Amino acid sequence: MKINVITIDGPSASGKGALALRIANIFGFKILDSGALYRLYAYFFKMNFSPDEIISQINMNIIFNNHKNRLSIIYKEDDISSELRSESIAKLASELSSKKEVRDTLFNIQRNFYDGDILVADGRDMGTVVFKDAKLKIFLTASPEERAKRRYLELQNRGQEVNMPALIADIKKRDFKDSSREISPLIPAEDSITIDSSEMSLDEVFSFTESMIRKEFN
Ligand code: DC
Repeated sequence: MKINVITIDGPSASGKGALALRIANIFGFKILDSGALYRLYAYFFKMNFSPDEIISQINMNIIFNNHKNRLSIIYKEDDISSELRSESIAKLASELSSKKEVRDTLFNIQRNFYDGDILVADGRDMGTVVFKDAKLKIFLTASPEERAKRRYLELQNRGQEVNMPALIADIKKRDFKDSSREISPLIPAEDSITIDSSEMSLDEVFSFTESMIRKEFN
């Protein structure tokens, strides 16, 4: 039986987080940013917690807040969202995400986000592994050059030094790593709809998905 989940998978900087947030907020659905869980795993791993302790920290001490235009992550009353977005956590999260035991552990936490109400879940393997039984599956992609451009603007906004050719090379390297890894590689689910957003704005991508959502969930 299909469950009330919309999965949005795709490579980094394809805009899936922004799309998931827009859908969740316009329709009043719940949201799961699965990448944030991998980043949290890395964050606690760095603090030398054991795998069991990492799970209980995530389950007991983490709060996800939806502020409409962004998600924030609170750990024991501290907002750790920007720390989680740092390059060092991103790198460690990427390394850890190729380990089976890490993916298996996070599987249950991700499944527990679903309680019957409509959930929007974004990540890499939402439609292929975690919510194989989702009603609507979207695979959002864009060219490496376009994604590098988006990342460039994001980093520049945060006041960081950026180099475009290095960003493009980095994105291509990550794409290769993500899609060629043995477990949960980044590939579109067979029953997913692929949207190439290289030449589309967020508004356009949202309008495109809106009609599918109304059809599926009305
Ligand atoms: O989407 P993101 O950049 O926040 O993800 C952080 C890391 O976690 C990234 O290296 C990919 C990995 N990840 C994953 O393997 N599977 C997911 N469902 C989500 C993220």
